[in-house]
Amino acid sequence: MKTIHLSPRLQMVADMVAQQKKNGWLVDVGTDHAYLPAWLLQEHREQFAYIIATDLRRGPLDRARQTAREAGCGEDIDFRLCDGLAAVDPREADIIVIAGMGGETIVHILKSACWAPDWWLGDGPMEDKVLVLQPMSSMPELRDWLQRSGFRIEEERLAKEGETLYTALLVRAGEMAPLRPAELWAGKNTGAPLRGEWLDQWIARTGRALEGMARARGEETASRRWALEEVRSGLVEMKKEWEQWQR
Ligand SMILES: C[S@@+](CC[C@H](N)C(=O)[O-])C[C@H]1O[C@@H](n2cnc3c(N)ncnc32)[C@H](O)[C@@H]1O
Repeated sequence: MKTIHLSPRLQMVADMVAQQKKNGWLVDVGTDHAYLPAWLLQEHREQFAYIIATDLRRGPLDRARQTAREAGCGEDIDFRLCDGLAAVDPREADIIVIAGMGGETIVHILKSACWAPDWWLGDGPMEDKVLVLQPMSSMPELRDWLQRSGFRIEEERLAKEGETLYTALLVRAGEMAPLRPAELWAGKNTGAPLRGEWLDQWIARTGRALEGMARARGEETASRRWALEEVRSGLVEMKKEWEQWQR
């Protein structure tokens, strides 16, 4: 039997899933190689009552089946070919993982599956449901959509692979204090050891974006530049707070 080893990014996601309630029904959306469900079954089999792995494309789903067979859990994962959660009944999911995808795709999946708090409130105890989201891009847009759509980001973690930093969000239905512009970009991962580096990265990125806008003219550009300057100064402030907190 092949032992599954996860990359730091996927390990972060797996650890967030593993800390959830026992006996849950898990859906891994966009599973690709199915490394996540296979690792969870190898390490925490007793914790999951049922695991569904979905993917939009047949190729990744075939790879997923192969991983599961090699890892000795081929019979324990229910593979479904679909867009996001389209072939998953809401009652089949306590924990929903959407990892390794752009923030816009994650929003599309959540929106089109009607996994909104309204539904959670109407059909079962919403506090039992959890989303673990690991966006690769469009993070401000994702956080903004979550807060406008009745979701609460409970925790954010960071992981590093090579020089690249990744974030993962633990989300439930519910209200949260509105995120400030800089928090929409960098999140509220205040306890993460990599936060200093993470903030540096966003400060540098917003700085480059502002440089790129420097020569552009027009009212729209001016308001975009103003908004980005606000984000950048918020990030710089967050970095200072982080440094003080480290002393
Ligand atoms: C980069 S892989 C990420 C795999 C794994 N979740 C991870 O984090 O390592 C993205 C996978 O999501 C799948 N995917 C993209 N859009 C999807 C959608 N709307 N619904 C289901 N799967 C999707 C792709 O086919 C691909 O297999």
